[in-house]
Amino acid sequence: MSATLSVTPVHLTVEHYPGDVLGIGQTVPRLSWQYSDVVPADAKTELEITRRMPAAQAVVQSVPVGRADNVLLPWPLTPLNAREQVIVRARLTQADAVSEWSAPLHFELGLTVAFEREAAFVGPAQLDGHTDHRPQPLVRTEFVVPAKPVQARLYLSALGLVDAELNGQRVGQDILTPGWTQYDDRLELWTYDITQQLQAGTNALGFWLGDGWYRGRVGFKGGQANVYGDRLGVFAQVEIFYADGSEQQIFSNSYDRQWYTVNGPITASNLFEGEDYDARLTQPGWTMPGFDDSGWDTVAQIPFDNRKLELPILPPVRAHGQHPAVTIAKTGEHKGRTNWIVDFGQNCTQRVRLHIHNLAAGDQVSIQHAEVLEKDGSLSTRPLRRGQQLDTYISNGEDALWEPRFTIHGFRYAEVKGWPGELTAADMECIVYYSAMKQVGQFASSNQLVNRLHDNVLWSMRSNFVSIPTDCPQRDERLGWTGDISLFAPTADYLYDTSSFLSNWLVDVRSDQKKWGTVPFYTPFIPFAEWSSPQAIAIWGDAAVTVPWTLYMNSGDKQQLASQYALAQAWIDEVRGYLSPDGVWDRKPHYSLGQLGDWLDPTAPPDDPVKAMTQKELVATAFFARSVRLFVKMAQALDRPEEAERYERLAQHIGRGFQHRFVHADGRMTSDTQCAYALAIVFNLLTDQPELQTKAGNRLAALVQASHGQVSTGFAGTPYVLPALTQTGHLQEAYSLFLSDKCPSWLYQVKMGGTTTWERWDSMLPDGSVNPGVMTSFNHYSLGSVAAWMHSTIGGLTATAPGWRTFRVAPQPGGGITQGQTSHETPYGLAAVTWQLRTDEFQITVTVPNGTTATVVMPGGTASKTVTAGHYTWSEPAAVSVQ
Ligand code: BGC
Repeated sequence: MSATLSVTPVHLTVEHYPGDVLGIGQTVPRLSWQYSDVVPADAKTELEITRRMPAAQAVVQSVPVGRADNVLLPWPLTPLNAREQVIVRARLTQADAVSEWSAPLHFELGLTVAFEREAAFVGPAQLDGHTDHRPQPLVRTEFVVPAKPVQARLYLSALGLVDAELNGQRVGQDILTPGWTQYDDRLELWTYDITQQLQAGTNALGFWLGDGWYRGRVGFKGGQANVYGDRLGVFAQVEIFYADGSEQQIFSNSYDRQWYTVNGPITASNLFEGEDYDARLTQPGWTMPGFDDSGWDTVAQIPFDNRKLELPILPPVRAHGQHPAVTIAKTGEHKGRTNWIVDFGQNCTQRVRLHIHNLAAGDQVSIQHAEVLEKDGSLSTRPLRRGQQLDTYISNGEDALWEPRFTIHGFRYAEVKGWPGELTAADMECIVYYSAMKQVGQFASSNQLVNRLHDNVLWSMRSNFVSIPTDCPQRDERLGWTGDISLFAPTADYLYDTSSFLSNWLVDVRSDQKKWGTVPFYTPFIPFAEWSSPQAIAIWGDAAVTVPWTLYMNSGDKQQLASQYALAQAWIDEVRGYLSPDGVWDRKPHYSLGQLGDWLDPTAPPDDPVKAMTQKELVATAFFARSVRLFVKMAQALDRPEEAERYERLAQHIGRGFQHRFVHADGRMTSDTQCAYALAIVFNLLTDQPELQTKAGNRLAALVQASHGQVSTGFAGTPYVLPALTQTGHLQEAYSLFLSDKCPSWLYQVKMGGTTTWERWDSMLPDGSVNPGVMTSFNHYSLGSVAAWMHSTIGGLTATAPGWRTFRVAPQPGGGITQGQTSHETPYGLAAVTWQLRTDEFQITVTVPNGTTATVVMPGGTASKTVTAGHYTWSEPAAVSVQ
């Protein structure tokens, strides 16, 4: 072969990991890649797969595959073994031409064989009897390495949270390890490459342990401590391979008297409340060889069934850039010690790292974090409730770099108190953290307020994708509320590849469902106060169907869908038992709040968020009808025609009941609200009677006109009100609602200076004061679900088949927006659209990836064309006005 093909395979990945990865658990993992440009029809792909057991000879195999096998190709060789390393690269071949090799993908299996996880969980033997404000222990060991190894791994997990250090250096870049899973069922075992950090001779390994979700106080209404256990422990298994073929293993254990523990300088730590650090208790050099640990205790074994350890699909939580201080204002001074309020410009999950200097031993510096300021300029801490987000540092008189370790805060502002003299930007860094996922979606328009709203949606997503999908990152809650992600998943999965993150969480939703007999309000479920007994509530429980379906539409991964099918089916089967004979869901739950309905409808009083305008049975039935319909599609996708048919009959029954109970003959609904019409239209509950659909659209448009552009939906209606107007031909009303900046509206939040999306439309009131409700967050993603409409209607991109095999390009300009741009990295490659509207011309540029087909519909909706892979530009006379 001589000629060079210019198009190459790119972005090789294994399963749904974003790139190179250590310690995966799949022994027959699927491979995916994309192409740098349009692939010639007769080209073929060649994979080169190199396999190697640690310190053994590599075996290289060439695997010819079709050019269209590039999404989730089943593992083409014999199954992989524990610890096996794989390098894959790919190139294209065509007649006598060949492309360059792609960049290689490296991955490695973890300890897939349960009985080879030989370490034990070890930690302090003594319990101190408290449930809060407990000192956080350290664990250390030393071992001798005869020569520089060729490969070494640390397999790490913990009951609690753990940070490892080897010979004085941090291991890996992850924080909040091992992440939050339903620990009673499963605990993640992470793999780290420590080859370079090991030295010939004596080595020291040290572990910081923290309470975290395992035994720290979690949840609201006082929360609960020791949810999973009251003793912290680390699991550490070190495996070292030498050039001569020999191996060495070191296991954390309580019998060889080589593992020691002591209370460390973190005197209290809580994910919500913050962390206290007393530098006087620092033991310099404790993770270096030769440290004198004679005063330390030997560790005890903490019982845990190692079969519950599993290899993560969950992405780790990592740092993602910094926010430098925008302003630093002095708020007080006393005897040379000063207080400051620092504005970091962006609300999100982050932590401040301080460069401590000029403090005498015993001097204390504290950092209080908050999302917003009160009108008098002070930090607004009331909305934090018990989650006070307060970190303190007591100095030992030495300079230090200090960042709290086992806590995480949602804030934009921080008040530093007790600082010696001037506080400057050089004294601190503010580091952003969230789960490491790949951003795959982009959006921009000619309207800067709209762009800021989109940025705010992104920030609220990142802030709440920290190990599990949470409601908010700041107050004493931070739970995996199922309803919030149920509504936001389509937006989230367009913006980031959330496949692994959300599939991991769905494993716990399923196990909670099995344990509690329903999909709980939040997962991992923890019983407290009146939330002790989960009840089936619409939207929240519907996450069992909507989240798997959303993932499937974006990834096309049937294997993943199949693993979530039982969760969805059990939800449908449970709720069908709560329907009245006419198919309306009005019989359960018997729980004090009942259905949450259109939660946080803007007319609900601050202290009563369930008091919505729309009937709860209407909302519950509409969502359930939609879930059953989606479940029918799941059954069809998984080739279960008999089930598809059976559940289709159920869907029709509910649809008839819905119309009968909630829609009058003249098309008016029993709840004459934006939410009611939006749900009926978007969930296709009227489509069998086109005139009803038209009437509903007209009525919705009239309600929007009458409200003068003010939003009147809560969590339930908000994602659907703009799609409903758009679908029924009321684009102008959709834009007027979307672009309103009066309270309540999306752009009101932007105009009020929001840098995230808020829980309440008016978390900050028009006079600049904080909403008096006890439940007031400035960082909730639910209302940001409007971004899905921005992507599909302003940008113009929508998947029409699983995995984006087919998609629609149909921007619908309006509201004076003259430019739009959106892209999504589909499993096949980038789908992108950019358009411009001039007085007399509409111009659009579209990118269609290999293996997909796009239907392009010009504004006005008349002509449409279907195109395959390529880059296209079209212009035509403008069918809509720029105004
Ligand atoms: C959370 C919500 C959640 C709701 C349900 C709130 O406190 O922050 O987002 O879905 O409770 O009751």
